[in-house]
Amino acid sequence: TPALAGTRAELAALLSAARASGRRVGFVPTMGALHEGHASLMRVARDEVGDGPVVVSIFVNPLQFGEGEDLDRYPRTLETDLKLCEREGVDIVFAPSVEEVYPGGEPEVTIEPGPLATVLEGRTRPGHFRGVLTVVAKLFGLVGPDVAVFGQKDYQQLALIRRMVLDLNLAVDVVGAETEREPDGLALSSRNRYLDEEQRREAVVLSRTLLAAREGAEYGVDVALDAARAELRTSTVVDLDYLEITAPDLSELPADVPAGTEARVLIAARVGSTRLIDNMPLTIG
Ligand code: PAJ
Repeated sequence: TPALAGTRAELAALLSAARASGRRVGFVPTMGALHEGHASLMRVARDEVGDGPVVVSIFVNPLQFGEGEDLDRYPRTLETDLKLCEREGVDIVFAPSVEEVYPGGEPEVTIEPGPLATVLEGRTRPGHFRGVLTVVAKLFGLVGPDVAVFGQKDYQQLALIRRMVLDLNLAVDVVGAETEREPDGLALSSRNRYLDEEQRREAVVLSRTLLAAREGAEYGVDVALDAARAELRTSTVVDLDYLEITAPDLSELPADVPAGTEARVLIAARVGSTRLIDNMPLTIG
């Protein structure tokens, strides 16, 4: 069973014992409601550090939720989360209270994410990435990991964390892990449990739309987007927020992309009141 720390002091005590071995510390930050996507991150962390300690944090971070978002109804399933961590051989689970992470209350000093936070998710979720980067920086400070693992599922988040580590000279290796999916292609997400039966069936349109873009990409960006939009129209339940093809670093693609250009297709959509996101790599031409 993993050792459970609820306070910064308990975490520090567990870490100083674990670090005495001199091995690398691996870290997987989460908001709980753990699923096989989270489990795959834990396995990547384990591969990275060998028999060094793997730390998982479970913390629903109020600072990254906007007005009218699902902070209050975000699923909290600590018992089953701990079982999954145990199954994956996690050494330490850090599950602090809000007061423990924000001892000064609403923080006055936060991480300003810069221009990359104004596109895609940032357009509809102002302040979201400021909240994410601030808590991730705090958790890095508390855990002191050598390597931290994040999912490509949240591609913009991963890009911003890499940028923060670069710009703030943080001594952490950031590893991006592949997206885990249901057999029909739906990306695993803690929010999938909000979907009713019909919505769950329809939600597969997101990944199908990305796959259509991927196939169309052989004939250029415009064909890719047309193919994706055609796939989207097969559902009346899925309400599109954005569908974009960008460079892998999320910058705009030039008007004329040479054949063989690597790119990323990203989607966000509402299914009922549940907002889902997904993305995939693709090659143009
Ligand atoms: P959460 O949504 O719990 O996700 C924790 C980590 O799991 C993130 O790195 C996310 O990209 C990854 N993840 C989610 N679904 C995945 C899937 N289907 N396959 C692979 N990885 C997946 O992201 C957050 O929490 C928070 O913003 C956090 C970084 C913890 C800061 O509060």
